[in-house]
Formats: sequence, structure tokens, C-alpha cells
Amino acid sequence: MQILVTGGLGFIGSHTVVELQEAGHDVVIIDDCSNASEEVLDRITAITGKRPAFEKMDLRDRTAVESFFKAYPEVCGVIHFAASKAVGESVEQPLKYYENNLSSLVYLLQQLVKKEQAHFIFSSSCTVYGQADEMPITEQAPVKPAESPYGNTKQIGEEIIRDTCRVQDNFRAIALRYFNPIGAHPSTEIGELPIGVPQNLVPFITQTAAGLRKELSVFGNDYPTPDGTCIRDYIHVVDLAKAHVVALERLLQEKQQGNYEVFNIGTGTGSSVLEVIQSFERVSGKKLNYKIVGRRPGDITTAYADTSKANNVLGWKAKSTLDEAMKSAWQWEQKIRRVTT
Ligand code: WQD
Repeated sequence: MQILVTGGLGFIGSHTVVELQEAGHDVVIIDDCSNASEEVLDRITAITGKRPAFEKMDLRDRTAVESFFKAYPEVCGVIHFAASKAVGESVEQPLKYYENNLSSLVYLLQQLVKKEQAHFIFSSSCTVYGQADEMPITEQAPVKPAESPYGNTKQIGEEIIRDTCRVQDNFRAIALRYFNPIGAHPSTEIGELPIGVPQNLVPFITQTAAGLRKELSVFGNDYPTPDGTCIRDYIHVVDLAKAHVVALERLLQEKQQGNYEVFNIGTGTGSSVLEVIQSFERVSGKKLNYKIVGRRPGDITTAYADTSKANNVLGWKAKSTLDEAMKSAWQWEQKIRRVTT
């Protein structure tokens, strides 16, 4: 039996491939390399001692997806990361996002449901909750109207999978709603490599400290939070990757109730932007250059997870602290930029 990881050369995908291989799973990766490099295959091999199978492919090509499943008859489980993920770009180019993120999903499912038994894990996002009314956010919190086409593709993606589960007894699926993934593998072989100016807080912090950016702009300090800056749930990418392995094993062992489940994957702890900066300064011993600017449109005030469902049902819990995750993010940045201090 083989597990297909789409987008397996990307940030979360590559960390998940490492954890899958270390848990003994046989992995094949599909990636179109639009936002990742084939070199990541060497890095995964260096960490695990095993080179995963790899097909460079665009999942929007329905015929290619069909041919892949013929060429790899052992694949009966898919972890689907491949997607476009820039919120701002999705507002500018909605059709690109609907095509990339949804047609690929449909083509994969069309092939997978032909199997006797099929298993599917979907990369979803806390973005489906919008500004939730209560903290921490449980899986029962209502899904709010999406703020962007990107967010909408995650909501629609979940609906496509749920509707498929309703009519396919041979198909089992789990959607994992990630909070804010940060950090890098302790080997510093793999980590986050944003193209262009990072939109996310942590890579912006580490790039600023490494000298690539002049200063970090903190988007607003007038939010109704203790220090006025927004609060998020930052989870170490290795913890997040491990959640995929336990979710997959739950599917393979047929432990699920019903054939569709949703889990929040976060730490359960909220940290403000200023707390993240303080954590960075603590673990790096460097002062970060930052200034407070106006709010970023579309930002919600607070989002952190109630992780009790994942803790109790999956038996999974995030282990790393914010400091540990920040330290790994900084070690990765230092390595790729050859920063020595
Ligand atoms: C975190 C905090 C910013 C940059 C992410 C993804 C989104 C979705 C949810 C996937 C916010 C502040 C940031 C900067 C700053 N994930 N910030 N200066 O907004 O929670 O969204 O998670 O589906 O797609 O992007 O994460 O890292 O962008 O921001 O002050 O230069 O840091 O305002 O409060 P966010 P983020």
C-alpha cells in the first residue's frame, strides 16, 4: 500500500513526508514545483534515508491524474496539500484559485473512489471559522462566510469531501483545520521558503533578523487584546506533520465514527504578535527591528484552537512550545542565509 502526498515538496507537505516515512509508510509525492524545488527530495532523503517516489505533475490535468492512478495501483490513501495559498492573490485572481484548488481535488477524488477502500486527508484551515464568537474555537463553531476566494476554496473543499463521503461507503476522509504553522525540521534540512516578500509573521521576522528586510511592520496595536496586537495559535510544523500520520492511521485502522471527520490542529494557546516577537528575541538573542503600523485589512482579532477533540480522539497533542518553534524557524533561516550570529 502506498500513500500519495500531493504538494509533498512544500512546507507542510515535506515535513509530513518525513514523518510518514519515519513511521514506515511508503510514500509517492506529486508536486508541480510551482512553489517548491525538487531539491527538497534530496533533503527528505538525507533526513529519512529513503527517497520517496516522485512525479512532477499538474493536478489540473485530469488525464494525467487518471494515468497516475493506473501507474500507481498501490495508492489507496491521499494526503492532499497541493493548493495555492496566498490570500491577497486569491482576491486578485479568484478563478486561478477556484481552478487550482478545486478542480485538482475533484479529479483526485474521482480516481480515488474507484478503489475498494480509499482514504483521504484534506489540508483545511482555521480560516473557515473567520472571527469566531467564542475562544478557544471548537470544531462545532460555525463556518463563517469566507473572507477571500482562498478561504472559500477551503470551505468548498470540505463540502466536496463531505458530500462524497455521504454516497461512498468505501471512502473515508478527515479534514484537518490547521491554525498557524511555523518552524522547521530540527535537522534544518527542510523549512519554509516563501517566494518574494513573506506575508506571514514568522518568516517576516526571521528574514528581518537575517538582514533581508529592514523592519517588521506590526499590523495594529489597537485590537481588544491585552497588548493590543492580534492573537493566533502558532503550531510547530513537525507537530502538525505528526497529526497527519495519526489521522491517516485512524483511517487505515477503520477507527472512525462515520466516514467523515474534522479536527482542529493547533496548540490550544494563543500568542499575540508582540509575544511572538519577544519569543524570537529570547531564543535568538537578537533585538528585532519593528514598528507599529495600521491594521491589515481582513485580519481577525483572535483565533486559537480548542484541541480537545484531536487530543482525545486522535491521541495527538502538540508538543513544542512557541520558543522551540521560533528557535527552529531561526535556525533554518540562519542556515539558508548563512547567518552566523
Ligand atoms: C499573523 C499575525 C498579522 C505579518 C494565516 C494564513 C491564512 C490562514 C490562516 C491558512 C496577524 C500579524 C503578519 C506582518 C504582522 N492559513 N502580522 N506583520 O493572518 O493568521 O493567516 O493563517 O489557511 O491563509 O495566511 O497569519 O502569519 O499572516 O499573521 O503584524 O508582516 O501577524 O496581522 O495578526 P494569519 P499571518
